[in-house]
Amino acid sequence: MSDAVQTQSNPNAAFKPRVFSGIQPSGGLTLGNYLGAIRRFVEMQESGIETLYCMVDLHAITVWQDPEKLRHNTRELAAGFMAAGLDPKKSILFNQSQVPEHAQLGWVFNCVARMGWMGRMTQWKDKAGKNAEQASLGLFAYPSLMAADILIYHATHVPVGEDQKQHLELTRDIATKFNHDYGVDFFPITEPVIEGAATRVMSLRDGSKKMSKSDPSDMSRINMTDGAEDIAKKIRKAKTDPEALPSDAKGLEGRPEARNLVNIYAALSNQSVEKVLADVGGKQFSEFKPMLIDLAVSELAPISTEMSRLMNDPAEIDRMLGLGAQNARAIAAPILEKTYEIVGMIRS
Ligand code: AMP
Ligand code: TRP
Repeated sequence: MSDAVQTQSNPNAAFKPRVFSGIQPSGGLTLGNYLGAIRRFVEMQESGIETLYCMVDLHAITVWQDPEKLRHNTRELAAGFMAAGLDPKKSILFNQSQVPEHAQLGWVFNCVARMGWMGRMTQWKDKAGKNAEQASLGLFAYPSLMAADILIYHATHVPVGEDQKQHLELTRDIATKFNHDYGVDFFPITEPVIEGAATRVMSLRDGSKKMSKSDPSDMSRINMTDGAEDIAKKIRKAKTDPEALPSDAKGLEGRPEARNLVNIYAALSNQSVEKVLADVGGKQFSEFKPMLIDLAVSELAPISTEMSRLMNDPAEIDRMLGLGAQNARAIAAPILEKTYEIVGMIRS
């Protein structure tokens, strides 16, 4: 990862490296979130760069959320972050709504971004579907608030899964247009960090669909709260094909389910796909699945146990989030002030 930070072509020379990312507390965490995002968050934290990780509750309400569940899911996400290795002493961990500067900068960006840009977002098209007339205005403006999340900290690097690439391109477009329209070099052009064997973990039931917390079938995903038995059952029942595993990556072409399980194995064991296939090529799934189960349980079960332990003390989680929000505001407030000044607001 720190390679990603060091090898950037440098439109951001004036900005110190700072990492920001967010996850919506709109349901439980999945293995997709863990491999595509959170593991990278931990690596970046350990690399010594300043890191901020946010539970984006304002994004979650772009589709209706039950208020009690939203509060629960926000705490559970915080517990998941910490159980997976994020440390509030090393990273700023907080929930978005406690730092009002996100929404304030989001408004300014609503006035910079163009309707056409928003209308082209595939996540908007997927989520609003044919019923765009009935979707919330917030869902349409979602990427503009996301740009504000990042740029309110002048963040230079954003670790995410593959599905967020388009939103990050839009963040760069917003920064570029703002800088151009006001004749400044104020916002950095953020670099996405999309790396590793599992930037797009697929459903266990359908290798053409992303593993998602909103999939109606619980068998399609591994939740970070699943215990050893559930993890084993879901992998045992995961869809596969009748062939043996190939011995190189080319042999995974046209076999999305096999590719997905191999990618998960590679990511969990910190090996390349090539290395994994060199070892398991020729094996049947009946032999490979138990290996994957052992690996997944040994990595994930301790996290789920730690999450339940942390969830026994919600007041402590809330206290930690409050402190995180204070630290985040200390960075965000002067950047918002400067933005308002650039735009022409009177500040007295
Ligand atoms: P979300 O749960 O949609 O808020 O996503 C939070 C983070 O997890 C984002 O960086 C996503 O790109 C990442 N993510 C979500 N689902 C997956 C998946 N199936 N595979 C890889 N990354 C994912
Ligand atoms: N849109 C992201 C998702 O659904 C969540 C998110 C909101 C985010 N703001 C962000 C991710 C800022 C990275 C940076 O996954």
